[in-house]
Amino acid sequence: MIEIRNLYKSFNGKAVLKGVSLTIEEGKVTTIIGQSGCGKSVLLKHVVGLHKPDEGEVSVDGEVLGDLDDEAMRLCRSKFSYLFQGGALFDSLTVWENVVFPLVWEGGRHHHYDKRILQKKAAETLELVGMAHVESLKPSELSGGMKKRVALARAIVHNPRYILYDEPTTGLDPVMSAVIDDLILTLNRELGLTSVVVTHDMQSVAHISDEVCMLYDGKIIFNGSVARMNQEKNPVLQQFIQRENKGPIQFGQ
Ligand SMILES: Nc1ncnc2c1ncn2[C@@H]1O[C@H](COP(=O)(O)OP(=O)(O)OP(=O)(O)O)[C@@H](O)[C@H]1O
Ligand SMILES: [Mg+2]
Repeated sequence: MIEIRNLYKSFNGKAVLKGVSLTIEEGKVTTIIGQSGCGKSVLLKHVVGLHKPDEGEVSVDGEVLGDLDDEAMRLCRSKFSYLFQGGALFDSLTVWENVVFPLVWEGGRHHHYDKRILQKKAAETLELVGMAHVESLKPSELSGGMKKRVALARAIVHNPRYILYDEPTTGLDPVMSAVIDDLILTLNRELGLTSVVVTHDMQSVAHISDEVCMLYDGKIIFNGSVARMNQEKNPVLQQFIQRENKGPIQFGQ
């Protein structure tokens, strides 16, 4: 379980997070919505220790990140995968080399594996994301949606327990967005991955969320199910839904 307690963060005197508290429960898909620049990526980065809070704390499985020494932090980080917003593949590496990169460079250290073992692991992981038989291609030979799926394979290759997605469907057409959403659900349901997804896409939110959180003016102003979100009267939330929603919201999964 991830617990975010009373988190404050400013950059150059500008307050971005102003007391964010949120519990991310095991095994669920939690989506985070909010307008551009409101601090969604900053919040995710605190969860993996890439930003340090000015005040407040993040705890993962009961361990407060700020209390961990380097080794404990390395172990904690290995439980996570973080799909960066616009996260790119390494163009000079093949698809399979990209996928196993986190194993070879785990914790920033080089680990030696037999090449055949790595290739087998890459092939198995690519199969999980519906990308079999592209192992020896270069990223430049893939479409945008294929690249996202390879990035997803790279994100799960070290068997994380928590996966954080920052805008995983941005820039994709609706069909490919739906493919990625289905994969997020499959990885959540079949591998039991606790998932946090930052997205602007209200169709995605409706399709994948167990819990939705809205960040506004540095605070969480809504936290609940999609059904509750649609009933919620908060005008800021309703305005956001209407602006971002390009069609009827589909219920159910
Ligand atoms: N490393 C940093 N240094 C200084 N300011 C930063 C840094 N990271 C983020 N910010 C600022 O914090 C605010 C929130 O940024 P953040 O990237 O979290 O927004 P976001 O909600 O993810 O937006 P988007 O939907 O456009 O991705 C912005 O004003 C941004 O300029
Ligand atoms: Mg962002």
